[in-house]
This record gives sequence, structure tokens and C-alpha cells, in this order.
Amino acid sequence: MGLLGKMLLLFGLFQSSVWIISVSGNPEFAINPYSDFTIHINRSTTSQLNCKVCIKNSCQSSVTVSKSTNVVFTCPQPEDVFMVEIVRHIVCNISCNGTITPEDVPSIQNFNRTFTWNVNVLGHKAFHLDFTRAGLRQIQPKEQCQDKHIYTVSTGKVTVGKFCLYGTIKSIQVLRKGSVSLQVPGKQQLNTASFGVSTASEITSPAIINVILPEEPSWQDFYSPNYPESFPDDDLITWAFQVPYKYYSTVHILNYTIPRCETKDTRMEYQLYGRTMVKKLSEPQLSEHQGSFNLSLQNCNVDTQSPFTRLTLHFQISAVRRGNEVRCTVDLKSEKGLLIHIMKKEPKSDCILKLNSLDQNTATITSQKITYVSFIDCQEENLLITMNKTIVCQQLRDCPYPESLRVPVLDKCIIGVVQEVRWILQGPQRGTVELLSSAGNLQQLLPGQICKDTVIFTVSENEAQGITVGQFCPQGSIHKMQINATNITVSALSTGEKNLRQITSSLLQVSFTKSIRESYIFTVLPKKDIPVLLATPAWPLGMKAYAIVSWFISFPTQLEAHVSFPNVSQLTCKNRPAYIKLQRKRSQGKMYSWQDQNPKDVVVSESFYLNMSNCLPVKGAFSVVSQVTLHVGKSVLLSIVLSVVGVLLLLTIILAAFCIIRKKKQKQKAPEVSVYNPNSHPFLPGLHDIPRETEDEDLHIYHYIDDHLVYGHLLKNLKEDEKPAVGVYRDFNGPTGQEPLTDESEGRGAVELQVGVYRSFTGPQSAPDVPGTLVKPGEILACEGEQKADEEISADDDQETLPNVQGKPKTEPMVA
Ligand SMILES: *[C@@H]1O[C@H](CO)[C@@H](O)[C@H](O)[C@H]1NC(C)=O
Ligand SMILES: *[C@@H]1O[C@H](CO)[C@@H](O)[C@H](O)[C@H]1NC(C)=O
Ligand SMILES: *[C@@H]1O[C@H](CO)[C@@H](O)[C@H](O)[C@H]1NC(C)=O
Ligand SMILES: *[C@@H]1O[C@H](CO)[C@@H](O)[C@H](O)[C@H]1NC(C)=O
Ligand SMILES: *[C@@H]1O[C@H](CO)[C@@H](O)[C@H](O)[C@H]1NC(C)=O
Ligand SMILES: *[C@@H]1O[C@H](CO)[C@@H](O)[C@H](O)[C@H]1NC(C)=O
Ligand SMILES: *[C@@H]1O[C@H](CO)[C@@H](O)[C@H](O)[C@H]1NC(C)=O
Ligand SMILES: *[C@@H]1O[C@H](CO)[C@@H](O)[C@H](O)[C@H]1NC(C)=O
Ligand SMILES: *[C@@H]1O[C@H](CO)[C@@H](O)[C@H](O)[C@H]1NC(C)=O
Ligand SMILES: *[C@@H]1O[C@H](CO)[C@@H](O)[C@H](O)[C@H]1NC(C)=O
Ligand SMILES: *[C@@H]1O[C@H](CO)[C@@H](O)[C@H](O)[C@H]1NC(C)=O
Repeated sequence: MGLLGKMLLLFGLFQSSVWIISVSGNPEFAINPYSDFTIHINRSTTSQLNCKVCIKNSCQSSVTVSKSTNVVFTCPQPEDVFMVEIVRHIVCNISCNGTITPEDVPSIQNFNRTFTWNVNVLGHKAFHLDFTRAGLRQIQPKEQCQDKHIYTVSTGKVTVGKFCLYGTIKSIQVLRKGSVSLQVPGKQQLNTASFGVSTASEITSPAIINVILPEEPSWQDFYSPNYPESFPDDDLITWAFQVPYKYYSTVHILNYTIPRCETKDTRMEYQLYGRTMVKKLSEPQLSEHQGSFNLSLQNCNVDTQSPFTRLTLHFQISAVRRGNEVRCTVDLKSEKGLLIHIMKKEPKSDCILKLNSLDQNTATITSQKITYVSFIDCQEENLLITMNKTIVCQQLRDCPYPESLRVPVLDKCIIGVVQEVRWILQGPQRGTVELLSSAGNLQQLLPGQICKDTVIFTVSENEAQGITVGQFCPQGSIHKMQINATNITVSALSTGEKNLRQITSSLLQVSFTKSIRESYIFTVLPKKDIPVLLATPAWPLGMKAYAIVSWFISFPTQLEAHVSFPNVSQLTCKNRPAYIKLQRKRSQGKMYSWQDQNPKDVVVSESFYLNMSNCLPVKGAFSVVSQVTLHVGKSVLLSIVLSVVGVLLLLTIILAAFCIIRKKKQKQKAPEVSVYNPNSHPFLPGLHDIPRETEDEDLHIYHYIDDHLVYGHLLKNLKEDEKPAVGVYRDFNGPTGQEPLTDESEGRGAVELQVGVYRSFTGPQSAPDVPGTLVKPGEILACEGEQKADEEISADDDQETLPNVQGKPKTEPMVA
């Protein structure tokens, strides 16, 4: 009964209690309120008019009426001076649940009216203001509502906010005591939209504003309590946002001020389902969040001595409908050295990438922690993923076995195309990193070439400039790479739009081994008739100063390798020249050596080393592309050679004679060569010593002479004697089908050869140009006499060279 009665009191009060009686031109009111109503009639502080309100004979600037009373004003238009506040106290005992419908009184409609309901709940901790029917919209203090009705909700001395009717705020919970007031200007028809008041269970915040976002794109502004004045010290306010299904909301802070804190922090605390997220006001806030959430603004204990004491916040919530969200909890707690970098291909696309609840264009996930990422309306092709995997081997004994380099397996919920995987390989000090292709061998990829496969490997040394060793494709001849470096990066990059994620097999094997003498060693297993291009590391840039690269070209004995050098750079060296050496594997001493000159095409009949060493370049850079092609040689070739031998035998005697002359000449010329040793060497012309291996130097020089100059004599001889000699040479090469020597190069080679030979004997500037193909028939023809001559020469200068020189013609008669 009591409850019902109370509810009735809330309604229809003013209709019977206030009316106007006009006496002698001055307005008179008879006020007869119910017991718990109070009416204040106050003179506006801004009014200049001296008008008073009188009860009986007492006239004042304001009166408070709480029982039947007649009031008279001393001016004709009191509504210009006075405002009326109708205050209702609502005390809820045990529980109450009712509706408040503001009702106007025709006689005081001309006054600015404020209807105030003070609510107090006894035995309860909170009450609930229910605006579900119309809803409220928060406004700035000076803002006006369209219908000129402004609601103000307060708790204690704190203004929770000012509101207009019709909005997304559906209810407000207030702790213990609070008030709702409605301001309506004079002559304005009262909107009688009602709202509910009921007791509520205890809440954790002095006030909770419940917002239900509509099922349409929306933007709503909110302000901190007391805005633009400060939110109180150590206080808390909560907004509970109910977001429709499939809608994603974002919190934008539009304006804020923060105080200097004595203790605690000023912060935004988000309660998302299942977890809490705390942000500073200066940080990016919740973004593209699906589902309802609570947001609390917590003030600190403000340092009142500081000039910065105000906490104010103006933020906006936007919400839009989106498709499906894929949420991913990436647990890399037990993973080491893995970094996953996800990048939106187009920052403005509909695809939304979130990292730890924040909308991002890129997201980096690192190992040893749990990361939350999610994807809204994302297709795989909207996102690119790169991964860095660091593999560390501190001591050789810690990592005795090769490790497979595979594309790290990503959780299915991570959306995106894996475009690149980088392995950062950190070996022990003074170690070598060995890379072995897991399936098939690798092909060196030179600039301008394209890789038909799905993946390109880039190997680089992690030095200051990040030297690239080279780029490689699967399906080639490079079996193994050894890099004398402790810190290298191997990257597998997908070609085109391919997704490396689909590659589950091992791509490469890495092992860490002891230091090698060379900077790089490549083991190459060429296939028959397929040309293999091998470029010096860092191509097309130059190799590091003094770097040594060695290719070990291995192939079965029935085959022979045609080696050519399609691209050789020019450089000027300081101290010592750069060199290119070609050394047979079994017959160790057999060697071609080029220093400061262009290397010539050669044919080699057994596995060999192709070694190159850079100098300290002062001009230009050391970069060389070599080409190796295997052909069937030996037996076929041998038979051809034998048929040619008959013709060539005729020349043997002449040759022998020249050999002797040459030997003498050479002895005279050799000092000239070594004397020519300026500080700066052009790479091309001239023969120079290699200071680093002085013993070898001479050896190489003689070797060179052995292989080329001797034959050069033959050619010279032939040329001088008769043109057919050149023809023989051509006939010889033709049938063997040696590809490196095309007709053109043969012809040119032959001509240059002749010129070169002469020059090499007349001065140090000229390099003998003798194709390797010519060497072999020369050797065969050169026979005993020539070899002996070389032997002697070699013996004079270097013991080591001698056996090499000796062995060569005997073991390798067939190399053409
Ligand atoms: C009117 O005056 C009374 C006290 O005289 C005060 O309590 C009340 O808040 C005032 N109302 C307005 C709207 O200023
Ligand atoms: C009544 O309210 C209007 C604005 O709503 C204001 O301009 C006017 O000064 C107020 N009158 C009094 C007497 O306070
Ligand atoms: C609240 O209700 C209880 C029991 O119904 C009563 O004892 C108490 O006096 C009431 N308090 C008020 C302020 O009405
Ligand atoms: C108040 O009463 C209405 C119906 O009259 C009911 O729907 C609502 O749930 C009640 N509220 C509380 C807090 O009891
Ligand atoms: C931010 O708030 C300050 C005062 O609190 C105000 O002066 C300023 O104009 C506001 N800026 C914007 C962009 O609203
Ligand atoms: C928000 O707070 C209310 C009341 O404390 C709670 O019932 C609700 O579960 C919270 N919502 C979320 C998303 O945590
Ligand atoms: C991944 O590793 C590469 C090479 O070391 C480095 O350049 C890149 O910055 C790394 N990526 C990230 C996101 O750290
Ligand atoms: C090989 O690496 C060691 C250091 O580990 C270095 O001292 C040496 O000079 C390197 N050799 C070459 C040829 O680069
Ligand atoms: C190896 O290289 C990476 C990438 O450049 C670098 O971050 C790291 O410090 C290097 N490590 C060592 C041991 O030099
Ligand atoms: C060429 O390099 C290999 C290592 O790959 C080495 O064993 C050989 O002695 C080197 N030969 C010359 C002539 O430098
Ligand atoms: C050698 O390679 C460089 C770099 O790719 C290129 O610019 C140059 O034209 C090439 N030279 C020849 C003769 O092919």
C-alpha cells in the first residue's frame, strides 16, 4: 500500500496544487503542495529588475514554499525575473519501482522551470534511472537541446552529465543518493516523457551510464562528470556499452586534460568479456572491438600543489557493422627467437587487423609472450606476413647437427600470405655457416633473371653494410655454401603472390662449422649441357677487399667443363693484384692463373677449384661472372683428337724448336714481369705478382706460360708458316662441339692469341690471350721437349710448381 501511495504522489501533483489569482494587476499564486514537495521561487542572479516575491507581508528575493501558500509578486512580469524550482524528494524504503512523468502547471508555464527529483534509497546501495523509452544523449554544459529540455543527473556534488532526450543512454545507476533535474524554459510546452526510478543492487562505481548502441552506424559523444570542470579527485565513473551483434566500436578521445598525480594513476580501464585492458588517456584506446564492454575513468589522488589538477575527458564512440571477426591467441611463450610481422597490404581496406584490441596497420608478434590478434573482414590476400627466426649457436659443440630451415608453422587463425621468412643465423666466433639445399641444389640468380620457382633465397652477411652474398633459386647446381661469417641472414622470399605458408618441407639445412681459410666456398654440381652461371659474392657490386671465394666444381670423369667468364669488372688495386685461379682437384698442381688481366675460356676435364681473390681496390671493384657448362668429352673427343694428331705431328718438330727459343726468352722476360709492380694495378693489362703467396706467384706465371705461351708459339709458328694452321685449330674445335667457344670467339680468340703472344714477349702490358681449348692440343703436341723446358724453368724458381707442370700433360692429354 505504502509503495503504491508513494507512486501516486509522483504523478499529477501540480494540477491541483498551484493556480494564479490576479489581484490589483500584480500576480498572486496560491500554492498547496503535497507533503514532500518543495517549491523554490528564486530571483535570477542576472536580473537587474528589483522585483520581489511576497508571502503575506514579507517580501523577499526568493521564497520556499512547502505548504499551501499564496504568493504575490511586486512586478507585472515576474517570469522575466524569477525562476521556479519544483523539488520532490523520493525516499525508497526496501524497494521501490515507479515511473516519473513530469507534469506542468498551466499557471507557472511562463516561468523558467526546473523539476528536480532527489532520490534517496534506504537499505539499498544504488538506484536505477530508467530512460529506456526515450533515451538520453549527453551534451556539453552550454549546449542546447532541440526541444529545450535539459536533464541533469547528479550524485552528491558531482554532475554526472547533462542530457537531451532521445539518445542511446538508456539508464543510469547512481550510488545511494542522487538527483535528476529537468530544466524547461518559460512558455515552453513540457515534454512529459517519463522515466523509471527503482532500487538497484550495489554497484562498483559512483555512477554507471548504460548505453545501448543502435543497429546502425553511430557516433556518440561523452564527457567526464563536471565537464568542463574537473572530475573529482580519486573518483570513478563507468560507462557500460552494449554493442549490437556484428558491430565494432572504437573509442576516440577528442579532448582531455590530466592532473598531476600524487598517488595512483589517471586511467581508462576497459572491461572486455574475459579480460581487462588499462590505457592511459594519452594512449590509443580500444578500437574495432566487437561486443559489449565497460569503460571506467579513474582519477588519481591529485597533487593539489601542482597547477595541473584537472581531469577532463571528451570522447566519442563510433560503431559500425562488420563481418566476421577471427580472434587469435598467439602463444609464443615457449618459442625462442621468432618474430611474426603482419602487415595490411592497403591501410585503407575494409580488412581490420587488431593487435591486443587495437586497430593497427601492422602487428608484430614476438616470442616468449602471448599476443592477441584478430582479423575482421580480412581475406588472406589483404595481409602480408614476414617472419624473422633467429637461430643462435654459441659454441660449436652446442649445435653439432644441421638444422632445417622451414617456414615456421603459423596458427590457422592467423590470416595472411607469408611473403618472406628471414633466418638470422648467429654462429660462434670465428665460425663458418654452411648452407645446404634440402631438396635439389640452388641456382644463382643474377640481376635481370627471374626465378621460375616459388621462392628466392637471399643470403647476406649481417655486417654494417649488410653485404649480400647472393640470391638463389631452387633447382640449380649449387649444392653447398660455406660462408666465413658468424652472423648471416638467409631470407626466403616468395616470388609473385605465392604463399610460403604452403611449403611445409625443409628449405635449407644450416650447420655451423670451424672457420675456413676462404671467405666463401661454393660446392657446385653442374648438370650436363646446362650452363651454370656463378657470380662473385655481392654481384653486381664488388667483393669485399681481400675476400677469397672458391667454387669447387665437381662432376663425373666422363665429362668436361667448359669455363668462360662472360662478365669481368675492371679495377685498380693497391698493394697486390686480384687474381683468378683454376686448379684441378686430383692433379693438384694443374692450374690456370690470371692476375690483372682478363681470364680466358678454358676446358677442364676433371673436378676443379675456381678460386678468386680480391685485392684492396682503389678504383673499380672486383666482380666476375663465370659460366661452367659440362659436355661429354673424353672418349668422343679423344678419337677426334687422335685423328687430328696425324696432321699436327708434322708440326711437332717445328714446335720443339720454338720451345727452346721461348724458354730462353722467357727467362729473360720473367724479371720484366715482376719488376712491373706499381702500387696501383689495373686489373686488365699486364702480369703481376701476388705478394701474398710469393712462391705461388712465380709458379703461376710459369704455369701460365706453360699452358698458353708455349702453345702461343705454336700458333705464331703456324701463322707465320701458313694460314692452314688456324684452320686446323678450327677443325679441331668444331667437331667437339665445345659450346663456350663459339665460332666467333674461336676466330677472335685465335687472332687475339697471336697478337697476345707477341705482346707478352715484348712487354708486360699485354696479356696472352689463349683459350684453354688451344692449350690441350698444344700440350699434346708440345710433348717431351716442351715439358722438360718448363720443368727446368719451374725448378729454377719453385720446387712445388715442377711436379704440377709435369703431371699436367701426362694425366690430361685429352683436354681441349
Ligand atoms: C533557490 O533558492 C534555494 C534557497 O533559497 C536553493 O536551495 C535552490 O537551489 C535555488 N534554486 C535555484 C534553481 O537556484
Ligand atoms: C530563462 O531561461 C532562458 C534561457 O533558457 C534565459 O535566457 C532567461 O534569462 C531565463 N530567465 C530567468 C528569469 O532566469
Ligand atoms: C523503512 O521500512 C521499515 C520496515 O518496513 C521501517 O521500519 C522503517 O521505519 C522505514 N523507514 C522509513 C524512513 O520509512
Ligand atoms: C519495475 O516494474 C516494471 C513493471 O512495472 C518491471 O518491468 C521492472 O523490471 C521493475 N524494475 C525493478 C528494478 O524492479
Ligand atoms: C579541449 O578542451 C579545452 C578545455 O577543456 C578547450 O579549451 C578546447 O577548445 C577543447 N578542444 C577541442 C578540440 O574541443
Ligand atoms: C560491465 O559491468 C557490469 C556490471 O558490473 C557487468 O555485469 C558486465 O558483465 C560488465 N560487462 C563486461 C563486458 O565486462
Ligand atoms: C627481421 O630481420 C631483418 C634482418 O635482420 C631486419 O632487417 C628486420 O628489421 C627484422 N624485422 C623486424 C620486424 O624486426
Ligand atoms: C674468415 O673469418 C675470420 C674470422 O672468423 C677472419 O679473421 C678471416 O679474415 C676470414 N677470412 C677471409 C678470407 O675472409
Ligand atoms: C647479428 O646480426 C643481427 C642483425 O643485423 C644483429 O641484430 C645482431 O646483433 C648480430 N649479432 C651478433 C652476435 O653480431
Ligand atoms: C682453391 O680453394 C680450395 C678450397 O675451396 C683450396 O683447397 C685450394 O687450395 C685453392 N687453390 C688455390 C690455388 O688457391
Ligand atoms: C656485366 O654486368 C653488369 C652488371 O649486371 C652489366 O652492367 C654489364 O653490362 C655486364 N657486362 C657485360 C659485358 O655483359
